[in-house]
Amino acid sequence: MTSTASKTQDLRERQQKYLIPSLSSMLYYGDEPIAVDHAKDQYLWDVEGNRYLDFFGGILTVSIGHCNDEVVAATVEQMKRTGHTSTLYLNEITLKVAEKIAEITPGRLQHSFFSNSGTEADETALMAARVYTGNTDIIALRHAYSGRSSAMMSMTAHSNWKLGGVYDGTIKHVRSPNMYRRPDGMSEAAYLDFLVEDFEDFLATCTDGKIAAFMAEPIQGVGGFGVVPKDYFKRILPLVKAAGGVLIIDEVQTGWGRTGRYWCGIEHWGVEPDIMTFAKGIANGAPVGCTVMTPEIAEAMGGLTLSTYGGNPVSMAQAYATIQYIEKHKLWENAETQGDSLRAYMDDQGAKHDFIGDVRGMGLMQAFEMVHPGTKTPDPARANALIQAARKRGLLIGKGGRYGNVNRIAPHLNVSADDMTKGLELLGQSLADIA
Ligand SMILES: Cc1ncc(COP(=O)(O)O)c(C=O)c1O
Repeated sequence: MTSTASKTQDLRERQQKYLIPSLSSMLYYGDEPIAVDHAKDQYLWDVEGNRYLDFFGGILTVSIGHCNDEVVAATVEQMKRTGHTSTLYLNEITLKVAEKIAEITPGRLQHSFFSNSGTEADETALMAARVYTGNTDIIALRHAYSGRSSAMMSMTAHSNWKLGGVYDGTIKHVRSPNMYRRPDGMSEAAYLDFLVEDFEDFLATCTDGKIAAFMAEPIQGVGGFGVVPKDYFKRILPLVKAAGGVLIIDEVQTGWGRTGRYWCGIEHWGVEPDIMTFAKGIANGAPVGCTVMTPEIAEAMGGLTLSTYGGNPVSMAQAYATIQYIEKHKLWENAETQGDSLRAYMDDQGAKHDFIGDVRGMGLMQAFEMVHPGTKTPDPARANALIQAARKRGLLIGKGGRYGNVNRIAPHLNVSADDMTKGLELLGQSLADIA
């Protein structure tokens, strides 16, 4: 493959000149950038003509393949019909998406507020919880990622994603369940007891006993795909309710069938959130954020609030086409089947390579945690090396985690068995390259 050719170099130089430096320093994982020419279905081509099988989907956002024909057709049709009117007028397409969300989300979630990003969806959730409960404190999990507004940087619990130094002191973080890094020798049951006791103690010592909400991702995305223990939410929920709070579940990465079997990740844990947030995969790459809540919370949010582009008909057409496509093809089933193949292969590789400390995830959301062999010491250089080796072989994967040592793998929800086989072959070769 071409490494750095003139076209990419030219774009790179223009980026360095006109975009802020942080965008170029973090995103390439220290390697050369990929300059995208075009993308279709599972593949992406760079301006040098190299083709990549995409197993990261623009950070779990391209849910049903690049430039999916049905989404493109719905977008074009809507653009010709009405581009933008604001929420001052009724647009049926927005209502169709809201109806669908009420239908497919668990429990009594019914009323949606649309915005443009996960950040805004989470901001809205906090506002709704505070207005409804009359309380202000929010409890979040360490290693969470919630976005880039001031409040969402306060929610985010990774120091490297917090810029500006002004944080909301009413947002507090408890221990994040991390099965791999739990104290040595502690059973899952004992760890769960420990987390629940710590939560209880936290409420009693770090709040005035009243909270507006507890907010969590069922599987932390940026946090490195750690899967919350089975009974965690069931055990925490009564504590949250006793403190007057509501449960907010952030499904920005886990929603839309990603975790397999269900539409929403939290359904695996059998609890009903009071508020849920979506973005990323909801519209296959169009900027859509959604906060859905129960009728009584929506009722309490009686004041004025508006997002100019929220519920924009073109973005909504993309969301509706994406949801219809997922539903028509029952992609939660494909996520489970292909996710099982991915996981089985990754487990095999984990047994083969001593630098893979942990394999974890659900459905089409799986990760390797890279460590120094024989220890649990994080090895971020190895995670970077895997990304680069995979890229050289034509496979795109991602990374994350508190130490930047977790490789995140998340093919599109409609990945075919053939593309999965091809991707696994490339993944295996890339692991052998870095062994
Ligand atoms: C779980 C989660 N919540 C919220 C966000 C913020 O979304 P956005 O980048 O669209 O503002 C992200 C982004 O990665 C996320 O992963």
